[in-house]
Parts: sequence; structure tokens; C-alpha cells
Amino acid sequence: MNQEIVVSGIRSTGNLHLGNYFGAMKNYVKMQDEYPCYFFVADYHSLTTHPEPAALKQNVYKVLAENIACGLDPEKVTLYVQSDIPEIPELYLILNMLAYKGELEKTASFKDKARSQPDNVNAGLLTYPTLMSADIMIHKGQYVPVGKDQEQHLEMARNFAQRFNHRYGETFPEPEAFNFGTQLVKIPSLDGNGKMSKSENENATIYLCDTDEQIIKKIKKAKSDQGPLTEFSEMPDYIVNLFDLMQLVSAKETVEHFKSTFNHCTIRYGDMKMQLAEDMIKFISPIREKTISIKEDTALIQKIMKAGKEKARESASKTLAEARKKIGIHFYC
Ligand code: ADP
Ligand code: TRP
Repeated sequence: MNQEIVVSGIRSTGNLHLGNYFGAMKNYVKMQDEYPCYFFVADYHSLTTHPEPAALKQNVYKVLAENIACGLDPEKVTLYVQSDIPEIPELYLILNMLAYKGELEKTASFKDKARSQPDNVNAGLLTYPTLMSADIMIHKGQYVPVGKDQEQHLEMARNFAQRFNHRYGETFPEPEAFNFGTQLVKIPSLDGNGKMSKSENENATIYLCDTDEQIIKKIKKAKSDQGPLTEFSEMPDYIVNLFDLMQLVSAKETVEHFKSTFNHCTIRYGDMKMQLAEDMIKFISPIREKTISIKEDTALIQKIMKAGKEKARESASKTLAEARKKIGIHFYC
């Protein structure tokens, strides 16, 4: 077992999708045998968009069920809900004193959200990166398995850790985004516009709970064209995307076969899409079915949440006590 501590979270904002799986959860499952791991549902983070209370609760259960269905073993990892750990908001408050308005305003995710929800540019959105840093630092996390979209947040977490260490003495490791061997992943949406995402672009995102029919329908509708007219021509982005998706779920020979037909201008995108849909269904349907059975067992999910809460608080309270002491907030000993 390695020493480095692994921390990562997924927001409870909707159904998990291929991007969550290949960007984050696939690494979680691999890392659980090699590192001490803390994985959680980031329910506080999802409050920035003011979800309906009943929907939020269901989403928290669902994210937990989907994580387990994808192979996370609650016996091996600490699996918990962010809002169950009061030490996190306390560290968040402390880190906010080390975060500057200017740098928070420059964060790409803040600028995107400020543009997409101009009527709700709340302080939680602005300080999203400090809460995320607190999530990681509360366990002295070092490796953070996330997709490419989170790179900038991790850079900020390193800055906050450095600032704390510089001011108060060495306390926190500098966390880094982690992916086994290769670069961070970004799973594109099926319409060629941006990434797959829980809350936007629903028809261009494949969810882990999609039915076979939905998968076929979405893949059929994915952007394509008449096919190349000259041999070995450059692939348009949206076709690259289809091949990227195929690479995730299909056999190597299948991908090679369609690449070769592309290069020789004999490709039929209809056939390629049917093959992709078939392989995607083989990949998704067992996860979907397993999620349904876990989600029905609320008692089991609550038991897992409670056990995770205890383990996570044990680690979190140690770190927070150390941070408070270093800052000078400790009066009764
Ligand atoms: P979403 O952006 O879909 O709401 P989250 O923000 O909760 O999902 O992200 C949870 C994890 O999934 C993060 O590690 C994030 O980097 C990863 N992730 C989300 N979308 C993608 C994607 N399209 N490609 C790769 N990774 C992704
Ligand atoms: N911000 C992450 C996302 O949108 C979710 C998240 C919250 C997270 N806290 C975290 C990821 C801590 C890794 C570590 O995807």
C-alpha cells in the first residue's frame, strides 16, 4: 500500500455519465487497492445552483449507489457525504482568508457559471475552489483523481496549501491531479460542443442509468457527415470524438477496422454508430442494473454513509486541530 492519501469528490447534481466514469471513477476503483482513499459526494458544492431539496437528497443516494455499482468497495475506501463532515466548512473558512478575490474571479469555472447563471452569481460560486481545496486538505490529500476540467482548481489548491505552509509552517502536502499513466481525460459530448456533463447537454451525454434504447438513440443522433472523400484525410473533431468513445468501450480490432474504413473512404457512420451503441450497452447495462438494486436498499446506503462519516471525521478532526493550533486558535490545553 502506498502512503500518499487520495481524495476526490463528485457533485450531487444529477445522473453520473461516461465523463464521470472515465474521468474520475475508473481511477477511484483502481486506486482503492493501492492507496488510502477518501471519496465523497460533494453536496455542498451542488448548492451553488440551488437544487430542489428532495432532488438533492435523491441525488446524494444515487451518486453513492452509482459509485458502488462501478466497483468502489466501502470496505476498502472511506466513502462519505461532504456535509457530514463539519470540519470541512471550518477549514474552508480558514482557507478563505488566504484566497484573494482577484484570483477567485479569474477562475475559468467561475467565469463560465457567472455567464450561464447571471442572476445567481453567489459567493459560494466565487469560493468554490476554496471549498474544494478544504475537501482535499482536510485529509492531507496528495493525489486527486479528476478529469481535465478540474486542473485549474487543483492548481489553486496547491497555491492555498503553499500559502498556509509558508505562513504557519509545513502542514499540508501540495495536491496534484492524478490519472494512471496517461494525461487527464476529457470525454466530449456527442454533439461536438464541449464535454459530457451532468446538468447540461442532456441529449449529448450518455448517462450510466440510460436505457439501451436511450443509448442507441443518442449515439444515432451524434454528429457525423457523408464520410471522407479523399483517402487518409484529416478527421473532423466530431468524428474524432466518436472514435474516442469507441476506444473506451470497444475492442481494439473494432476501432482499427473502422479507422481503416475511414482512411479508405469506405466508412459507413451508420454501421459504426450501431457497433458503438452495441458495445456501449454492454458496458453500461450491468452498471445500470446494479445501481438500481443498490439504490433500492436505503438502509444499506445509510449504513455505508454512517461508517464513512466516522472514518472521515477521524482523519478530518486531526488535521483541523493541527491547523487551528498552527494558526493560534487553540486556547484550552
Ligand atoms: P459534472 O461536471 O458532470 O457535473 P462533476 O463536476 O461532479 O461532474 O465531476 C465529477 C468528476 O467527473 C470530476 O473529477 C470531473 O473532472 C469528472 N468529469 C466530469 N465531466 C467529465 C468529462 N466530460 N470528461 C472527463 N471527466 C469529467
Ligand atoms: N469540483 C469537482 C467537480 O466539479 C468536485 C469536487 C468537489 C472535488 N470537491 C472536490 C473533486 C475535491 C476532487 C476533490 O468535478
